[in-house]
Amino acid sequence: MCKFFFSYLVVFMSIMSVIAQQQNAICPILPNPVTYVKSNPGSQSGTLSVNDTLFFSAKELTPNVKSQLVYFGGLLQGLTLIESERNASITFKKQVNVIPDSYSITIADKITIQYANDAACFYAIQSLMQLIHINNGEKTLNKGFVADYPNYKWRGLHLDVSRHFFTKEEVKRFLDLMAIYKFNVFHWHLTDDQGWRIESKRYPKLTEIGAWRDSTVKDHYSTKPRTYDITKYGGFYTQEDVKEIVHYAADRFITVVPEIEMPGHARAALAAYPNFSCTGNALPVENLWGVFDDIFCAKKETLDFLKDLLDEFIPLFPGTYFHVGGDEAPKTRWKKCSNCQEVITDNKLKDEHELQSYFIRQLDEFLTSKGKKLIGWDEILEGGLSSNAAVMSWRGFEGGIEASRQGHEVVMTPGSHCYFDHYQGKTKEEPLAIGGYTPLSKVYEFSPISPNMSATQASFVLGGQANLWTEYIDSFDKLMYMAYPRAIALSQTLWNPAKKPSFETFEQLLIENHFPILDQLKINFSRSNLLPQQHWSSHKQGLKVNFSSKKENDLFHLTIFQSSDSGKKFTKEIMLQNKQDLIIDRELDSPELLVNVHSEHYGFEQQVKIIPHKALGETVHYLTSPNKQYDSGKLTLVNGQKGSRPWKGHEWVGFDTSTVALRITLQKKRRIKEVDISFLNEPGSWIYSPKKIQLLNPDGRKKLDRTVSNENGQERIKIEVNRKVKNIYLYISNWEEIPEGNPGAGHVPWTFIDEIFLR
Ligand code: ACM
Ligand code: ZN
Repeated sequence: MCKFFFSYLVVFMSIMSVIAQQQNAICPILPNPVTYVKSNPGSQSGTLSVNDTLFFSAKELTPNVKSQLVYFGGLLQGLTLIESERNASITFKKQVNVIPDSYSITIADKITIQYANDAACFYAIQSLMQLIHINNGEKTLNKGFVADYPNYKWRGLHLDVSRHFFTKEEVKRFLDLMAIYKFNVFHWHLTDDQGWRIESKRYPKLTEIGAWRDSTVKDHYSTKPRTYDITKYGGFYTQEDVKEIVHYAADRFITVVPEIEMPGHARAALAAYPNFSCTGNALPVENLWGVFDDIFCAKKETLDFLKDLLDEFIPLFPGTYFHVGGDEAPKTRWKKCSNCQEVITDNKLKDEHELQSYFIRQLDEFLTSKGKKLIGWDEILEGGLSSNAAVMSWRGFEGGIEASRQGHEVVMTPGSHCYFDHYQGKTKEEPLAIGGYTPLSKVYEFSPISPNMSATQASFVLGGQANLWTEYIDSFDKLMYMAYPRAIALSQTLWNPAKKPSFETFEQLLIENHFPILDQLKINFSRSNLLPQQHWSSHKQGLKVNFSSKKENDLFHLTIFQSSDSGKKFTKEIMLQNKQDLIIDRELDSPELLVNVHSEHYGFEQQVKIIPHKALGETVHYLTSPNKQYDSGKLTLVNGQKGSRPWKGHEWVGFDTSTVALRITLQKKRRIKEVDISFLNEPGSWIYSPKKIQLLNPDGRKKLDRTVSNENGQERIKIEVNRKVKNIYLYISNWEEIPEGNPGAGHVPWTFIDEIFLR
C-alpha cells in the first residue's frame, strides 16, 4: 500500500513541478476516474496533438493487450497503432506493488501509461481513447494526469438470450461496449422457459427441441385477448460458439458467468426431456412470458441430469462462479408429486421450501467439488442457504443484506435500480417495456452497499449488476436502447462511487463526450434523458405543468387540441420559455385535452393527454401509505392522466397492503355525480383489482355508505354519489392472499390505482 502511494506521488509531483495545473477539472472519461489533473487549461501549450498513426513502446505488454490497443484505437478514434521503440509517442510501463487493476496516464509531450496488471493496462487504453477529442478535424489531448482504479470487483451486465436470441456477433458487440465502460462480468442467461440456448452433446434434444418455440406472444402479455406471432423462433450457441465468446470476453478482461436455470424456468428443457418434470407430461417450449408451474422435479434422476449438464458445461467457462438461477419456482407440482414428497420424507425436510434448499445444496456440493462457486437469485435463501453459495439480490436489497449477515458473498441487482427492462422515460413514445420505471438518474443513485449493512456485511458485497431481460427486447437495436446510457450510469457507480460527479455533470459528459462515441459506433442508444422534463403540481384552478429543458434558453412550442369522440379540434398554440408554467383548468368543458410539446433545441416532440374532471389537482390524503417503489406522488391520482396499459411504474400508485384507505378533499363543497376509479388487474405481476370498494361518509355529516363488490376483477369501478360533498373517502379491500394456483400465491396482492375521477 505504501509503495503504491509513493510511486504515484513521484509521477504526480513530476508533472506538478513542470506545468501549471487545474485540479478538479472535469474529466471526459466515463466512468469518471479517481484522479484527474489538467495542465495549463485553455492554453496552446496545454494540448498535445495526436497523429492518426501512433507508435507505441510496450516491451512488457502481452500480445493480447497489444491487439486490444490496436482494435479499440481503431474502433473509437480511427487510429493506426504500430509498435516501435524508436519513435514511440506512447510508452507502457508495468508497476509492482500497486493497487490491483490500477493505472495512471501522464500526458506531457509524450504519453506514459503505468499499470498494475494487464486488465489495468486495458482500462488505461479505454481511458486514453476517451481523452482524445477532435477539434476542427484535428485530434488532440489535454496535457494532464489520470490515476485510477475500480472500487468493486463485480461490475456486471446480464443478458437474457432465451426470451430473444442474440447472435454470436451481437453478443460480441455487447461485450465491446461493456469493455469500453470497464464492466468485467457478463452474466449470460442461457436457459429459460422460452428457449434453451447452449448445445449439450450428452443431451442433444435440449437444442434440437428446446431451442425452438412455435410461436411468440405479441404486444404486452397482459394485453387481452392475446395474439401470437405464429413463426418458429429460436437459435442456440454451439459449444464452439460458446468457447469463442468466452475467449472474446476474456481478451477484454470480462469473465462470463453462465446461468443454467433450475428448478424453475425450465419449460424449454422439459419440452425436450419431460421425464425430468413431476408429471412427465409433454409440454411445448413456452410461447408466453411469465412464471410457470412445471419445473424440474426434485427426484434423484433430475439432479443427476443437471449434474451431468454442469459437468459438461464447466470446462467451457473458466470463471469461478456458476449461476444456477433458483428464482420464481412455484411449488404447486412439488406439493402433489410423490417423488418430491419422498425426497422430503427421506431427507426429513420440513416443506417444499426446504426441498428447494436441498435441491440447490446438491448442486452447490457438486460445483464446489469441481472448484466452482454457486451463485443464485435471492430465493435460494428460502429454506436455508447452502454453505458456499453467493446470492444475487434482485427483489430489492433485503436478500443481499440477509445473505451478507450470514457471511455469504452478494451481488446487488435490485429491480428498483438495476432492471434495464423497465421504462426509462415517461413519454408515450417509449418503446414497449415490461413495466416499472428506472430512469437514468435512478441508476446513477445506485449503491450496492445498503446503509442497513455493517462494515463486515459490506465486505461481502462483490459489486452490482444490471439485468437485461428480453421478453420485450427483440432486436439488438432495442437492446442497445434499453442498455445505454443507463449502463454508463451503472459503470460510474460501480467504478468510482466515492468521487462520482454530480448527476448534472454526468449528464453533461454523456451529451458532450459519450453520445458522440455511441453515435460513431452506430449504437441505437436512448436519448430519453434529454426530453423536456414535466413537473406537475396543484394549482387553485387545477393543474400547473412546468416544462424544463437541459438547454437553458430552450423554447417550447405547445400545440393544444381538444378531442372527443367526434374528433380532434385545434384550440391554440403557445410558446413557453424554459421553465415557464402552463395552467390546466379543472372546469374546462372538454372530454380530453391533447398538448403537443416540441423542444426547439432538441427537436423532440412529446404528447400529453389530460382528461379534466372535478378533482383535478385537488388534495389527496393517504390513510394507508403506498409502497415506496410505487409511490409516484399523490397528484398521480388526480392529474387527469390515466395510468396506461400495459402498465408503467411511474403512472400508478401501488399499495402492498390488503386494504387501502384514502380521502380526497375538494377546495369547496360541490355537486358530484359519480366517482370513477381505475384499477389494474394484472395477476401475472401479482396485481389484483380489489374485491370491494366502499365510499364512506364523504362529508363527515350525512352518512353515505355505498359498497361495490368486484369479485371478477373489473378494472373500472363507478360509484354513484349524487350530492354536494367536500370529501370523498374510499375504503378499498383486496384479497388477503393471492389464491393458490396463481403467480405469487400466498402473498398479499398489490393494489394499483390511477386515476380517481370525480364527475
Ligand atoms: C428475476 O428477475 N426473476 C431474477
Ligand atoms: Zn416431483
